[in-house]
Amino acid sequence: MRTLNKLRKYGIYVLFFMLLFAMVFQFTADLRQPSYPVFKKVEANTTNRMIIVVTPTYKRMTRIPDMLRMANTLSHVKDLHWIVVEDGNHTVPAVQQILERTNLPFTYVAHKTAVGYPRRGWYQRTMALKFIRSNTSHILGKDHEEGVVYFGDDDNSYDIRLFTDYIRNVRTLGIWAVGLVGGTVVEAPKVTDGKVTAFNVKWNPKRRFAVDMAGFAVNLKVVLNSDAVFGTSCKRGGGAPETCLLEDMGLEREDIEPFGYEKEKDREIFVWHTKTSTPNIVQSKKNATKPVPPPDTFGYFVEV
Ligand code: UGA
Ligand code: MN
Repeated sequence: MRTLNKLRKYGIYVLFFMLLFAMVFQFTADLRQPSYPVFKKVEANTTNRMIIVVTPTYKRMTRIPDMLRMANTLSHVKDLHWIVVEDGNHTVPAVQQILERTNLPFTYVAHKTAVGYPRRGWYQRTMALKFIRSNTSHILGKDHEEGVVYFGDDDNSYDIRLFTDYIRNVRTLGIWAVGLVGGTVVEAPKVTDGKVTAFNVKWNPKRRFAVDMAGFAVNLKVVLNSDAVFGTSCKRGGGAPETCLLEDMGLEREDIEPFGYEKEKDREIFVWHTKTSTPNIVQSKKNATKPVPPPDTFGYFVEV
C-alpha cells in the first residue's frame, strides 16, 4: 500500500520531467539543424523540371553501339529532351532510328565543325545552346516551366540516378564526382560544410571550376540569362572548355550545389568517363595496284 502511494507521489514528478524534456527537445530542434544547405534527393516542386541533354556525336566504328547504350539508359528517364548534334553534313538514319525508339522527345540536327573550332564537340554544343535559347517553349512543352541542361557525351557510362536524383534537382549549378577521368580514378568537388571551395582533381586543380563536362549541369535559367557558348579555345581551362563556359555564364564557386558527397564513405559514382576503344579490324591483303576495299558487312549497317 505504501509503495503504491510512493509511486503515485513520484510518478507526477517523472511525468513532469518527461514533459519538460519533450518541450526543450522541440524548441531546440532548429538549433540542431546543420547550418549549411542540404540538397534533398527529391523536392516536391522540382520533379517537374525538364532535363535537356546535349550530345555531340560523329561517325566512327563504335558510335552506333555507344549511342545505343546511352539511348537505353535515357529511355528510363521521364521528362527528358535529348538534343543530338551530328558533327557532319547530314544526320545519319541509324542514329535517327535509335533516337525514335527511345520514345523520348528529341532533336537531331547536323552541324559540321566550323573552321577554327577543335573537333571535340565544342561547335556542336554551341549550336545546341543557340537552339535551346531560340526554341525554349518547344523544348519545355506545356507541362514544364523549368529545365536543366546537361552536356552528356556519347561515350560515357551513365547511372539512371544521375538524371533522377542529381540533374533533376539542379537549381543553379550542380556538380558531382566523375569516375575514370583527368588522369585519375575519380574527380570530385571538395565539400566543406556543404560548400565547394576546392576540387579533388589531379589535372589543373586551380581552375575556378575543375570539372569534366560529365560532372555538372546548369539550370535552364542560367543558360537563358547569358549568351555564353563554347569558343574556339579555353586558356583558363588549360585547353579544356568547362571552366570557360561556366565562368562566361557568370557563375562563381559559391553557386555550386554539390551532389553525392553526403556519406563519409561508400560514396557512389553516377557517371564514368569511359572511352570505347576502336576494334582492331583485320584488313584484307594489300594489293599494290588496287586500294584496300572496306570490310564486308554482309548487308548489315556498320559505320566503317
Ligand atoms: C573530354 C570531355 O569529356 C569532353 O566533354 C570535352 O569536350 C573534351 O574532353 C575536350 O577536351 O574538349 P573526351 O572523352 O576526350 O572528352 O572526348 P570525346 O568523348 O572523344 O569527345 C567529346 C564529345 O564530342 C563526344 O560526344 C564526341 O562524340 C564529340 N565529338 C568528338 C565530335 O562531335 N566530333 C569529333 O570530331 C570528336
Ligand atoms: Mn569521351
